[in-house]
Amino acid sequence: MFLGNPELGSKEAYVPGLTKEHVAKTFGIPLEDVAKLGSAENPFGPSPRADEAVKAALNLSIYPDWTAASLREKIATKYGFPPEHVICGAGETEIISWIIRAFAAPGDRVLMFVPAFPIYHMTAESEARIPVYVGMGSELDFQWDDYIAAIEGNVRILFLTNPHSPTARLIPEERIRQVCEAAEGRLVVLDEAYIHFTQTNGGMHLLHDYPNLIVLRTFSKAFGLAGLRLGFGIAAPDIIAPMRHLKPTWNMGQLQIAGGIAALDDDEHVNKTVDAIVEMRAYVTEKLRKLNRFSVVGEPRANFFLLRIEDKALDSTTVFEELLKRGVIVKDGSVSFVDLGKRYLRIDVSLKKEMDRLVWALSDISNS
Ligand SMILES: Cc1ncc(COP(=O)(O)O)c(C=O)c1O
Repeated sequence: MFLGNPELGSKEAYVPGLTKEHVAKTFGIPLEDVAKLGSAENPFGPSPRADEAVKAALNLSIYPDWTAASLREKIATKYGFPPEHVICGAGETEIISWIIRAFAAPGDRVLMFVPAFPIYHMTAESEARIPVYVGMGSELDFQWDDYIAAIEGNVRILFLTNPHSPTARLIPEERIRQVCEAAEGRLVVLDEAYIHFTQTNGGMHLLHDYPNLIVLRTFSKAFGLAGLRLGFGIAAPDIIAPMRHLKPTWNMGQLQIAGGIAALDDDEHVNKTVDAIVEMRAYVTEKLRKLNRFSVVGEPRANFFLLRIEDKALDSTTVFEELLKRGVIVKDGSVSFVDLGKRYLRIDVSLKKEMDRLVWALSDISNS
């Protein structure tokens, strides 16, 4: 007998990427040779400044400030907003869950392109809010007319991801403006988890023009702090206020607060990461364009790209499994993303050693 709410029963809660240890053990490959390209983590590891600050913050008997005031002040100063415009969470993921609950009632709708970051629809469904999907078509590009036309009735929240996941495509600023204007009394969520890798400043300045916009950022990617669990949102105080009521009171521990403050000063680590990823993105996509059984979707602007399988004899699960045997972990699009179908893999951009292993493994599959 299942006693939970019906929305919480039937499906897998989340399908995480595989670990290096699992693949090394299963396929007998030395751990250091396994290329982990499925979780978009930072190949240079954590910001060294954050690492040091976290180790120095081990004052574990004291409650942290419940709003993470010192971290909010740091974020506010860095990005040019008052601290009341900032809220911090255990990753963007936690903030997304408050957004769903604070701005849509059960039965209300939540708009997004598909494929999309699965947490949007999973969180909506688990709270009995209803995802509305706008397809991206056979070229996996934004269908703006369809998206704008879908803004109606009880659609309360609109997600945009820039750069988009899993396609890694960049959204032009005028489109974000168009959506904010068409949304009127609805909330637009601009998820900029991967914005550093676009080498643009992103859309925070749009907050000055649109009171119905919230911009989300994470420390998990360019700052290399996925294990610390830290993200933030910036929006008008009217948007922040309801989320403060939903936020578990002490959601941010001392270590997150200290790590986040230090990471924001670590431009050296962020710049080194972004420079290397941008260089390797050009390197690997150039190499992959020479393989005729696969192609790269669009002009990727994130620290990952989407690979299309052109050979009809192969599908994403077969290629995913063949890559695992060769010590390469990627994301099988058919498992991780609604509506992506059986022809796509999302693959991280990493260091040269990992990129060379990926190119070798894909060529090896091509030749077998
Ligand atoms: C588009 C997008 N947004 C947000 C996140 C999650 O970030 P966090 O680690 O801050 O919860 C991810 C993680 O992979 C993502 O792909």
